[in-house]
Amino acid sequence: MSEYSLGNPEVIEEEVDILIIGGGMAACGAAFELQRWNENKNLRIKMVDKAAVDRSGAVAQGLSAINTYMGENDPADYVRYVRGDLMGITREDLVYDTGRHVDDSVHNFERWGLPIWKQEGDEDKSLTEGGKPVRSGRWQIMINGESYKPIVAEAAKKALGIDNIQERVFIVRMVDDKNDPGRVAGAAGFSVRENKMYVYKFKACLLVCGGAVNVFRPRSVGEGSGRAWYPVWNAGSTYAMAAEAGAELTLMENRFVPARFKDGYGPVGAWFLLFKAKAMNANGEDYQEKNAHLLQEHGYGAYVKGHAMGTCLRNHLMMHEMKNGMGPIFMDTVTALANLAEKMTPKEIKHLEAEAWEDFLDMTIGQCGIWAGENIEPDKEMSELMPTEPYLLGSHAGCAGIWCSGPEDLPGTPDHYHWGYNRMSTVRGLFTEGDGCGASGHKFSSGSHAGGRIAAKAMVKYVEDNSDIVPELDRTIDELKEEIYRPVQTFLEHKDYTTAIDVNPHYITPKMLQFRLQKIMDEYVAGVSTWYQTNAAMLGVAERKLGMLKEDSLKMRAKDLHELLRAWENYHRILAAEAHMKHIQFREETRYPGYYYRTDFLDLDDENWKCFVNSTYDRNTGEWACKKVEWVELIKEG
Ligand code: FAD
Ligand code: ADX
Repeated sequence: MSEYSLGNPEVIEEEVDILIIGGGMAACGAAFELQRWNENKNLRIKMVDKAAVDRSGAVAQGLSAINTYMGENDPADYVRYVRGDLMGITREDLVYDTGRHVDDSVHNFERWGLPIWKQEGDEDKSLTEGGKPVRSGRWQIMINGESYKPIVAEAAKKALGIDNIQERVFIVRMVDDKNDPGRVAGAAGFSVRENKMYVYKFKACLLVCGGAVNVFRPRSVGEGSGRAWYPVWNAGSTYAMAAEAGAELTLMENRFVPARFKDGYGPVGAWFLLFKAKAMNANGEDYQEKNAHLLQEHGYGAYVKGHAMGTCLRNHLMMHEMKNGMGPIFMDTVTALANLAEKMTPKEIKHLEAEAWEDFLDMTIGQCGIWAGENIEPDKEMSELMPTEPYLLGSHAGCAGIWCSGPEDLPGTPDHYHWGYNRMSTVRGLFTEGDGCGASGHKFSSGSHAGGRIAAKAMVKYVEDNSDIVPELDRTIDELKEEIYRPVQTFLEHKDYTTAIDVNPHYITPKMLQFRLQKIMDEYVAGVSTWYQTNAAMLGVAERKLGMLKEDSLKMRAKDLHELLRAWENYHRILAAEAHMKHIQFREETRYPGYYYRTDFLDLDDENWKCFVNSTYDRNTGEWACKKVEWVELIKEG
């Protein structure tokens, strides 16, 4: 394909009843569930993913645990756990809803072939037959999960039928309804492999494109800079497209800063919970014990119940050490494995060592590369831990996202938690789940799948109740083509002005624009270079610079389809970044110490800020508006 034909793509128009945008855990859950509710109804359903569903999204490399499984636990306790971990403010209706439905998704995973570890004697029993799982923590169960995503994808594909799945199409924007601006009627994007533009019309859609990665300058550099903990291909599309469509966002000030094995980004859960490893400072001290008194300051310990400490607070205690020159922080893998091996036979010890490697081989293969490359045998040498750059997400230990209507049957639910169909945003017809659904973290892979199923059921009801909707787009095909392919036109128009293709006063390459975004976010919006600290003055600078960056983003060039993808990913990142910055600016307190600090408002201030911060974006003016929204306790402290 020549670069010249790129500006004039073939246009493919399709009309369906329900469009699923994304092919990850929530999307696959929705696809599976829709089959059930669509029986004898013949609704037209399509799933569109920028990548290939078998290996797309955060579960691409596989996982080694399912982090949300109730089993013998009461979903009300799950709500208490999530509330504590996220510093008091969550939508308890949404969290409870996930808790009461999540196990069925896990049982299906096992039925579809996912190996779930069982306790001794129960190896041949499935969970539904009473087989007891190996729990790493109260909520987490261990799996052999290298093939987790292909297994879940296979069920989704079977349910929808392969003809109803469009892979390698990047959705750029939602399109409002011409006759009803409070409703979405379509979505438009382009193939990342062929010169084709896709325009979908629908009655309802599930927008589940994951969280936002590479918004902040990553710690990794050079050829390692593609390495991050969350998947680099989740570029904030969910938040940006929802915001542009007018949907209210919530808690976008929240972020996740995971403590990870340094450089390889290997997760720590199995090491802390299953292998019972401890982390220590440079002097071999247990900094969590040593620094426990820090939780008395600024009210940070308000939500520490018993021994459970929120994820951000564990970071807070670690960062205190590092900022005070007491790093590196080490995960004591040596003592942990030695303790476990004490009562084991040599064969069992070999098996234990294999498990230590498999934890990463199943999920974060790059960490094994680091261990191999640096000659680290975990039973002989400790590994460094490091807090990573921030990520915006709503399904892990974070709760950024879209403000969604919740279930209608929970006692005490206030009206502002429930205004329509379950998991529908404030824009009619626009549903979300997984990383998209705000104020309800700790869904993880299983909860995202279950959430997709909850949303699917509600979408079918919405479509049936609104069968008279005839979607009409408020943008013409030509307008959409001009907007989506603008980076290509910019390139074609100006490319001959200079002899060096990347240096041109008329355009900026997507790569350079991304560096600019990451530098602004890192230096002014509490990235790693300021040890996650910011204040009103820094945010003011960020606001100005992000405004100019947004203007300049219209000058991004695309010399091929790959750059067109990168250009639009960056545009989505900018909007997600702007939302994050505006929310941090609005919330004048430090709600999540260890994730970020407002140095001008260091206290956790329940009196003024025990509330949600919600925002809306006006795509015509480019302005954001933030407001406080009342938080309501539905589940009493047990
Ligand atoms: P994803 O599954 O990430 O799916 C997003 C989808 O959107 C992808 O298909 C992507 O290709 C598509 N997409 C993105 N942008 C566009 C666009 N513009 N147009 C079209 N499609 C688009 N959970 C656990 O339960 N246990 C664990 O052990 C665990 N470990 C983890 C380890 C790592 C390294 C990571 C990264 C995550 C881990 N998680 C774990 C969390 C879990 O993977 C997520 O919670 C879950 O995948 C979120 O689901 P989702 O559907 O919201 O997003
Ligand atoms: S993963 O999803 O990338 O594997 P991670 O390893 O941090 O994430 O966490 C897995 C699970 O263990 C999550 O439910 C997380 O909240 C929990 N977890 C991780 N570390 C700890 C800890 N030190 N104490 C309690 N829970 C933890």
